[in-house]
Amino acid sequence: MELNTTESHDIGIAPEHPVSAAPAAKKVFVRTYGCQMNVYDSQRMTDALAADGYVATDAIDDADLVLLNTCHIREKAAEKVYSELGRIRDMKAERAEAGRELLIGVAGCVAQAEGAEIIRRSPAVDLVIGPQTYHRLPDVLARVRGGRKIVETDYAVEDKFEHLPQPKRAELVKRGVTAFLTVQEGCDKFCTFCVVPYTRGSEVSRPVAQIVAEAQRLAEAGVREVTLLGQNVNAWHGEGEDGEEWGLGRLLFRLAEIPGLARLRYTTSHPRDMDDELIAAHRDLPALMPYLHLPVQSGSDRILKAMNRRHTARDYLKLIDRIRAARADIAMSGDFIVGFPGETEADFEATLKLVREVSYASAFSFKYSPRPGTPGAEMDGHLPEAVKEERLRRLQALISAQQQDFIASLVGQTIGTLIDKPGRRPGQKVGRSPWLQPVIVDDKAGEIGDIIDVRITRTGQNSLFAELV
Ligand code: SAH
Ligand code: SF4
Ligand code: F3S
Repeated sequence: MELNTTESHDIGIAPEHPVSAAPAAKKVFVRTYGCQMNVYDSQRMTDALAADGYVATDAIDDADLVLLNTCHIREKAAEKVYSELGRIRDMKAERAEAGRELLIGVAGCVAQAEGAEIIRRSPAVDLVIGPQTYHRLPDVLARVRGGRKIVETDYAVEDKFEHLPQPKRAELVKRGVTAFLTVQEGCDKFCTFCVVPYTRGSEVSRPVAQIVAEAQRLAEAGVREVTLLGQNVNAWHGEGEDGEEWGLGRLLFRLAEIPGLARLRYTTSHPRDMDDELIAAHRDLPALMPYLHLPVQSGSDRILKAMNRRHTARDYLKLIDRIRAARADIAMSGDFIVGFPGETEADFEATLKLVREVSYASAFSFKYSPRPGTPGAEMDGHLPEAVKEERLRRLQALISAQQQDFIASLVGQTIGTLIDKPGRRPGQKVGRSPWLQPVIVDDKAGEIGDIIDVRITRTGQNSLFAELV
C-alpha cells in the first residue's frame, strides 16, 4: 500500500509509558458518535484494523486499543469526547500499573477540527486521526507502537476508499441485512452555522465502479437495503459506465439492478441539489423508499439568508410540491435549528408555519450551538439559552404531534416490511417500515432478510405492530 503521499505530523511528545510491540490477538473497541457516516467509517476502520490483526470487541475492558470516532457538530457532542477520555485515561493508568498497555485513539470530526489540541488537553491520547486518512490507520499505529504520539489530519491526496481493505464476507453477513454505503463526502456549501466543510473537507464523489462493486459485495452477503450516504449526497456525480456524467438519480437506477438489493435510500440531501432526474427516480423506481430527509433549518427567509442556505422557504415548499407530484405517498423528514443569531419571534413563527405546511413524518430539531471558526459564531444577536429552550420545546411539540399523526395514519394499511432482527420478546421479530419505524411481527412471519406484506394493527411510541396478510 502506498501511503507516504502527504506528510503527517509527529508532534514528538514522548509517551508516559514507553510501549513495545503489541501482542498477537489485539482487540479494538470502537465507540461511535455523530451521524451515519461515522457509523460507516467505524466499520471501515474496523476493517482496516482487522487486516492489521485486530479483532473488534464490544467490551471496552478487553481492548488493547480504544478508538473514539467523534462528532463536532454541536458543542455538547464535542465535549462528550473529553469526559469519555477522562474515564479511559483512568483505565489506562490502572492497566499500566498491571503492566498491560492500552492505546487511545481519537478519530472523526473532533480529531480533524482540534488535532494536536486533543493531546494537549488529554495527554493519555496516543493518536489523533482525521476522516480523510483512515486507510493509514495501521501505519499510524505502527508508529505509535514505536513510541510516538501521532496526529494525522492532513488531507490525503490518494483515494482513501481505494486503500481501505474490504471486510470479509462473513463480517458483512454478521452486520445484517441493512447497510450504509458512503458515496459522497465533504461539503462546499458553507452554511454559516456548520463545521462540516471544515471537518470533512470539500465535496468528493466516489466513482461509479467503486460504488457498484461495494454494493454488489453487500448484496452477495445478504444485504437487502442500502442507504447511500453523503454530507450532500444528492450533489454526488460521476462518470457512468456509458461514459456520461451521472447524477444520484442514475446511480440509484443502476444500483437497483443489482440482484438481491430490494430497497434503496439516501441521506442527507440539500434542497439545492434535488434535480429532475432524482425526483424522477422517486416516481419510477420502486426500490427507492418513499421517505426523504430534506433539511431546511428555518422557515424565515431572513434567517435562511444569514445561514447562507441560498434558498428561500418558498423554494423549499415548491420543491416539496414537485417531489409529492412525482410520488404522492412520500413522507418527509427534516432538520431545524432554533435560535440562530438574530432570530426573532416572528422568524421562529415562520419556521412553525413551514412545518405546518409540510407536515413531517419525523424531524430533528436543535438549539443553535456556536461553533468555533464558523461565521455564525461571530455574528451579532446571539440569543439567551432560555429563549432557545423555549422555542425548541414549541417546535418539538409540533413535530412530535405530526409524527404521531403520521404513525396513526398507518393503522389498517398494508405495507412492505424488511425483517431485520429478532424481537426483544420471544415469539417476535422486528422489521423495518419504508419510513424507518420498527415493525413488530410474529416470529413465524418470515426470516431475517425477507420482505413481507403486513397489515398495521396498532402503534407504539414510534413503532408499529403488524399481522401477516
Ligand atoms: N449536510 C446536512 C446536515 C449535516 S449536520 C445538511 O446540509 O442538511 C446535521 C444537522 O445538524 C443539520 O442539518 C443542522 O440542523 C444541525 N446543525 C449543524 N450545525 C449546527 C449548529 N452549529 N448548531 C445546532 N445545530 C446544528
Ligand atoms: Fe453543513 Fe450546510 Fe454543508 Fe449541510 S450543506 S453539511 S449544513 S455546511
Ligand atoms: Fe458530526 Fe462529523 Fe457527522 S461533525 S454529524 S460526525 S460529519
